[in-house]
Amino acid sequence: MPTVSAARSVPKTATAVDVPVFRDTLSELPDDRRRAAELQGFEAKPGQSLVLTGSGEGPVEVLVGLGSSKDLSYERLRKAAAALARAVNRHEAVATNLVTVSDGLDRAEAIGAVVDGVRLASYRYTDLKSASKDKDEIRLKKVTVVAGGSGVRAEMTAANAVVDAVELSRDLVNEPGGSLTPQSFVAKAKKAAGAAGIKVTVWNEARIRKEKLGGLLAVNKGSAHPPQFLTLSYKPAKGTPKAHIVLVGKGVTFDSGGLSIKTSQGMMTMKIDMAGAAAVLAAMIPLPAVAAPVEVTGFIPLTDNMTGPDAQRPGDVFTARNGKTVEVLNTDAEGRLILADALSLASEAKPDAIIDIATLTGSASAALGTGYAALMATDDTLAGRLEAASERTGEKLWRLPLPAEYRRQLDSPIADLRNIGTSPYGGALIAGLFLKEFVDGAPWAHIDVGLSVYSDTSKGIVVKGATGYGVRLLVDALRHWD
Ligand code: BES
Ligand code: MN
Ligand code: ZN
Repeated sequence: MPTVSAARSVPKTATAVDVPVFRDTLSELPDDRRRAAELQGFEAKPGQSLVLTGSGEGPVEVLVGLGSSKDLSYERLRKAAAALARAVNRHEAVATNLVTVSDGLDRAEAIGAVVDGVRLASYRYTDLKSASKDKDEIRLKKVTVVAGGSGVRAEMTAANAVVDAVELSRDLVNEPGGSLTPQSFVAKAKKAAGAAGIKVTVWNEARIRKEKLGGLLAVNKGSAHPPQFLTLSYKPAKGTPKAHIVLVGKGVTFDSGGLSIKTSQGMMTMKIDMAGAAAVLAAMIPLPAVAAPVEVTGFIPLTDNMTGPDAQRPGDVFTARNGKTVEVLNTDAEGRLILADALSLASEAKPDAIIDIATLTGSASAALGTGYAALMATDDTLAGRLEAASERTGEKLWRLPLPAEYRRQLDSPIADLRNIGTSPYGGALIAGLFLKEFVDGAPWAHIDVGLSVYSDTSKGIVVKGATGYGVRLLVDALRHWD
């Protein structure tokens, strides 16, 4: 996977360099290039690329499409940079001119987008491969972003720190459920957070019991691994923080469904069920590097959801941290149980906002497909911040309601709440309404990422497997807080 740095011009060592082309500047290309483009169907569509076979002198030229110049966006830069990386992945050193054509956009963001594009498209999860026989093996080692002016170095450092974090989250989500346990998640979190200067606190099972995290303990009953509760804290190095935000991430290291067991098909991807936890951990790591102006606390409950001899039984009732009793009618609706306690703790901290992120329901993806996460929020300003971050990062969100009239579906005859609704429809909204019962006081946003954290295909900045969804979104929202 390549490292990316900046220089004022294309270095001599580069064996390939891109020529960014807008649809409206296609006709201005030198005759031979224009003709090659025409013959090979290159129309400067966003994300389109064409490697030109040159005279043998100098670096190979790669045309990369950006669409119409008036519609240039960070997402188009990201796509074009990804297309370049894919087209030249057999080269060792390449250069890109994409930042030089980003007039009218914020330069730091443009640099970020180009670094996202080249590095994320070149990501591979190789930990478990004995040797790389991959046909799209990456040989790319060094990418130079052509950009001049003051501040470029700092902007590159920040951009690289964010992509490092996305890679961390992809690695965690790609790791199998039998190997990434709550304990090993904690060990990896300590290492990454320690290196970045983020404070880490870990609660073990005894402490979790003392703190009355009844939901986390209930889900953990069927497991061979004790639960863990991880707290991460970041404070800006300078000045008074503009706000205090609590992030909460669902950390189910494997979801078998518990006794309400999933089908083998349904279980196949369930190592991804800690993607919310990975997003929260990873999003906190680059906060010092991007100098985020807010104080951030991350709460991460960790357990797997298994079927051990004392696993919670459908119909069992537990008491959550805030004192509410919950009748668990489906043990596969486990994410909301561990998030309930974490949201109570978040509320007790009296922050300015709470944001949770979770692979909470298949229903979110049934509604929106895998390209969008579902956003639910009790506060329009907070929702707006996340929508603005989504716009800048290209990590797509769509807001769904929290309909008060559905709340009665969660009434239980024997407890304060049941953990599933009565209707087979609207599951993402019911899950949101369940979580809302544990939020007290602070503005709250809930991001149900569903399957957007995982992709069956490689395209643009996404590589088959974990997408790292949520990391760039959260970092962006936090660094732009005012
Ligand atoms: N982790 C799953 C949700 C999920 C499923 C995320 C598929 C991504 C892809 C969650 O714990 C779950 O099992 N949810 C159930 C809830 C139902 C039992 C009310 C679901 O969505 O089917
Ligand atoms: Mn489940
Ligand atoms: Zn789950």
